[in-house]
Amino acid sequence: MMFPRLFRAKRRTPAAVRWSLSTPLLQWSSSDVWTIGDAVTGTLVTGATGSGKTSGSGRAMALAMLRAGFGGLVLTTKPDEREEWEQYCAATNRSDDLLVVGSAADLRFNFLDYEARMAGEGAGLTENVVNLFSTVLEAADNGGSGSGREDEGYWRRASRQLIRNAVELLSLAGSRLSVPDLYRVVISAPTSAEQKRSTQWQAQSVCFQRLKEADREGLTARQQGDLEVVADYFLVEFPELSEKTRSVIVSTFTSMTDVLMRGLLRELFCTDTNVTPEAAAEGKVVVIDLPVKTFGELGSYSQLIWKFCFQRASERRDVAANPRPVFLWVDEAQSFLMSSDAAFQSTCRSARVATTYLTQNVSNVYSALGGQEKGRAEAASLFANLNTKVLHANGDPVTNEWAASLIGRSRQTLANGNTSHSRDGAWPFSLGIEGMSDSGSTSAGFSETWEYEVQPAQFTQLKTGGPSNGCQVDAILFQNGRRFSASNRTWMPVTFQQASRGA
Ligand SMILES: Nc1ncnc2c1ncn2[C@@H]1O[C@H](COP(=O)(O)OP(=O)(O)O)[C@@H](O)[C@H]1O
Ligand SMILES: [Mg+2]
Repeated sequence: MMFPRLFRAKRRTPAAVRWSLSTPLLQWSSSDVWTIGDAVTGTLVTGATGSGKTSGSGRAMALAMLRAGFGGLVLTTKPDEREEWEQYCAATNRSDDLLVVGSAADLRFNFLDYEARMAGEGAGLTENVVNLFSTVLEAADNGGSGSGREDEGYWRRASRQLIRNAVELLSLAGSRLSVPDLYRVVISAPTSAEQKRSTQWQAQSVCFQRLKEADREGLTARQQGDLEVVADYFLVEFPELSEKTRSVIVSTFTSMTDVLMRGLLRELFCTDTNVTPEAAAEGKVVVIDLPVKTFGELGSYSQLIWKFCFQRASERRDVAANPRPVFLWVDEAQSFLMSSDAAFQSTCRSARVATTYLTQNVSNVYSALGGQEKGRAEAASLFANLNTKVLHANGDPVTNEWAASLIGRSRQTLANGNTSHSRDGAWPFSLGIEGMSDSGSTSAGFSETWEYEVQPAQFTQLKTGGPSNGCQVDAILFQNGRRFSASNRTWMPVTFQQASRGA
């Protein structure tokens, strides 16, 4: 049996060659390779819990990218993921590149300062910050419930409007943008017409004070116009919202800022900055060790902020000056999906970002993206932009149907009057490799039908690792538009060997 093998790059290879898109990372068979070009068009790994995603294909691809010198960002759901990456880095001689962001709080990232610095002169800052908060909030919310509210569009616009006005206000008032200041503006905005006329309230309200500071000499005509809009919002529109609507909008925003202003997250995100997403392009492997299983909401917000800023940083990067590929590694990806992922994914190749998502099934992805029509459409677009699919054992019929139709149908020869197909459960499916070349021939007692090349049920039979399987993990590898030489198909069976334990 042929296991995927790692390629070893020669140390002295020049960057242009070392990181060219055709550089091989893994060998699927003696004549099929997975290249940097394949990695940066995205990878989706599916399989039930315990099917071997992490210890099988995940491990092989992670080691391959580390060995090739990729930098990257690793998001975590389980507490053992940091240790896993420490081992991967040790095994590939990359331990010096590992940066662990976590409870030690020694690596800090003030994302608002960072965004402000990156936005520079242009008007981009406000929209970037609005997008950051609304994307992270929405993703954290969906991750929990997969609600897909009917009037979602309204709430989303209303929260964005609040955040936009708060950011604009601070910027017009000449204050530094910070999470506590945004929070104070929002919670001190007037909730009634009487309140806004009260001199006592005016003296105490940060929102009102900032409006006064912003209304100063020397504003440009554009700033003057912006200030009028912001003042109208806080002094007219906001107090006139119904109590219920206002409290939903405010609490949506404060639920996140509140978490960011306390304890560990304040230290990590609201103080100084000594690590940024740019570290990945310099070859660092940044592991956000705030696993969702342990840290809950704190973990989701932290990692979504890192993910968002990492994606923006990738879009800005100059790959001609620095062609080093980077990965965005997300095991249990359903916890971290955002509505902007599909759009980002379509730019990944030119930004040299190898997005790698591991998740159990497609239904989780639909619901993580908001469920219903919208969630499905976004998921479909995301799947289409994750070009390599590694499909592990699965008992979920929706995912198995999806996987079977992804691979597609072809003419197949079946024995007449016999419901058992010419293949059996053997691996690779007896049809899988050997039987393929003669699939066009018919003979007495056989008929041709047009059916799935890989039946949905076959995904229930793949090996899932562990001692009872000789530590072997099976998967079906699929790449749209590719024909593997080993199978002469768009897909091929692969088997991964798990690491030997305690040896
Ligand atoms: N190094 C290893 N050696 C043997 N068995 C392993 C090893 N790593 C994981 N396993 C077992 O293999 C199966 C697949 O594990 P895992 O890769 O964690 O699945 P998934 O990530 O799909 O949930 C599990 O039963 C697990 O206990
Ligand atoms: Mg896993």
